[in-house]
Amino acid sequence: MTRTVIRGGLVVTAAEELHADVLIEDGRIAALAATGSSAAEAWSADTVIEAGGHYVIPGGVDVHTHMELPFGGTAASDTFETGTRAAAWGGTTTIVDFAVQPVGGSLREGLDAWHAKAEGNCAIDYGFHTIVSDVNESVLKEMDSLVDSGESTSFKLFMAYPGVFYSDDGRILRAMQRGAVNGGLIMMHAENGIAIDVLVEQALAAGKTDPRYHGEVRRELLEAEATHRAIKLAQVAGSPLYVVHVSAASALAELARARDDGLNVFGETCPQYLFLSTDNLAEPDFEGAKYVCSTPLRPREHQEALWRGLRTNDLQVVSTDHCPFCFAGQKELGRGDFSKIPNGLPGVENRMDLLHQAVVDGRISRRRWIEIACATPARMFGLYPRKGTIAPGADADLVIYDPAAVQTVSAATHHMNVDYSAYEGRQLTGRARTVLSRGTVVLDDGRWLGRAGHGAFLRRDTCQYLT
Ligand code: URP
Ligand code: ZN
Ligand code: ZN
Ligand code: ZN
Repeated sequence: MTRTVIRGGLVVTAAEELHADVLIEDGRIAALAATGSSAAEAWSADTVIEAGGHYVIPGGVDVHTHMELPFGGTAASDTFETGTRAAAWGGTTTIVDFAVQPVGGSLREGLDAWHAKAEGNCAIDYGFHTIVSDVNESVLKEMDSLVDSGESTSFKLFMAYPGVFYSDDGRILRAMQRGAVNGGLIMMHAENGIAIDVLVEQALAAGKTDPRYHGEVRRELLEAEATHRAIKLAQVAGSPLYVVHVSAASALAELARARDDGLNVFGETCPQYLFLSTDNLAEPDFEGAKYVCSTPLRPREHQEALWRGLRTNDLQVVSTDHCPFCFAGQKELGRGDFSKIPNGLPGVENRMDLLHQAVVDGRISRRRWIEIACATPARMFGLYPRKGTIAPGADADLVIYDPAAVQTVSAATHHMNVDYSAYEGRQLTGRARTVLSRGTVVLDDGRWLGRAGHGAFLRRDTCQYLT
């Protein structure tokens, strides 16, 4: 048996903060005991990690990433190897990525393809949601068996991207009805893609080709409308609903109203919506393309509403929607036509630190930081308490976090396989010093010690967050 003790840190979970030592046995947390107590002093260990002056937090759980996602004739530039390594550098030790049902194919084929990309390549543990691009009878049956086996207990549907991922309301309702029975959680990309495509066509016809028009045609009203419609469909189906990448204040208001009505409706936002805005999309010389994602960045005033939603628990999760495309050769596909810019931003390495900055700035508490970035994502997607907390029996996915370290974010120093940073030049206080995945140190003081293939596939329970 291998035993590691982490001594002298401030253990922070969603539930509490305590000065405690943590005992790890064979990759799992065996015990916590107050620092200096006779119980903690009595522990013998092969390895002692000093954490004085640091936080000891659960590894981050990022439940929305797209490694190697094919999109718009290209593919997201992080592989499972580079993307999971970058995640660990940023203090994230679990990702849940999206396997895509191929057009005319089955969910099984999508999952097989994504397993083949990930297996043997990940530095940290990983799971899969399934993107359902065609709801039909055999797909509905597949959903049952995937939930039963725990291979994929959540399913993303799209009200956007007609002709690609889009599902009409009837298909959405059928999937929700099935989820209501089998326990699978429906995740929704809520934007009215049919209407958006009309506005895209009209904008291009009027010569509006710049990246900033991506933000203009993907109207806030059309996010709010789709969010409202998704909520009503879920209500008809009697199913819970998780709305991904919420960016608009009015969409958040729809979620808040539904939650006030007692519905199991949940919302996720992402760092780009909390820290970036349409000002970035309007950057000259096509630089705005770096910030093209869907839902789009919104005017600055939406940020305050999103922070408020995180404080009031109308938003429960912050994930990244990490979907990187290099500026050179990938974002550039949309020069002269914003609709051809591949959609997505890099961020898997930055999420924990950006949210810690919000703690420093007094926007959220330390415990809320852990709740929205670790504990609730784990509960929402059936990984708790194995992931997302520090408790006996949990996987020893831990971060020794230096709350005083100052860093300047830059593509020159980040580990994501993408040639720009959406947060270039931003100074942040706080950084992961030591990262453990199932008890194995993968990062220590700026030295990478992890390895591709250490990360294991995670079977998951159904949503553990229902009221
Ligand atoms: O722009 C984004 N978000 N790209 C990834 C695909 C999605 O809709 O999540
Ligand atoms: Zn202390
Ligand atoms: Zn989406
Ligand atoms: Zn996404």
